[in-house]
Amino acid sequence: MNDFIIAPSILSADFARLGEEVDKVLEAGADMIHFDVMDNHYVPNLTIGPMVCKALRHHGVTADIDVHLMVKPVDRMIEEFIKAGASSITFHPQASEHIDRSLQMIKDGGCKAGLVFNPATPLNDLKHVMDKIDMVLLMSVNPGFGGQSFIPSTLDKIREARALIDASGYNIRLEVDGGISEKNIAEVAQAGADTFVAGSAIFGKDDYQAVIGNMRAELAR
Ligand code: DX5
Ligand code: ZN
Repeated sequence: MNDFIIAPSILSADFARLGEEVDKVLEAGADMIHFDVMDNHYVPNLTIGPMVCKALRHHGVTADIDVHLMVKPVDRMIEEFIKAGASSITFHPQASEHIDRSLQMIKDGGCKAGLVFNPATPLNDLKHVMDKIDMVLLMSVNPGFGGQSFIPSTLDKIREARALIDASGYNIRLEVDGGISEKNIAEVAQAGADTFVAGSAIFGKDDYQAVIGNMRAELAR
């Protein structure tokens, strides 16, 4: 698969100017917006919720909004983000009492669905839901904060997930989140990822177009 998706995480954007930031990063060539939802319970940080997703839709954002739920429990937030205009919703299996039911809620709401795996969480929960998911999100940092370093052991896990997806025969995207930059994106793609979340590497620079352009050049190598 070589249709790569670059998804800037707005966690590292300037929240005081969020609409402008999202417009700017999309104009710079981003494919979708990664939206990190943290609850100070499942992860030790507190960020943004469905109201902000809805506000971005009202602002005129038509690009896909990829909602990464780092909240426990997940089901109420799934309902709210469906109403708020999410395009895809992913959650951590540990945060759901009934993984299959939560996935089905997302699908019934017309969104793409996926599971998220922390660096040390095995991929076991994937096996029985392959037919229900559109994406697998592998964390390459421990969830909770932007700007952390990529954990190298994730590369083996990306290869493992790629093999499982290919063997399943389903059309499932493999997204990687955390510590991705121009420097390692090619290696992450070579391991089997096709969708790349990057927060600080993009929003930490002045010229978003240059960073995204460099990332695409790295992916084309
Ligand atoms: C971490 C979030 C990530 C994070 C990525 O819990 O899920 O999406 O914002 O940020 P960087 O690219 O700075 O590691
Ligand atoms: Zn994320």
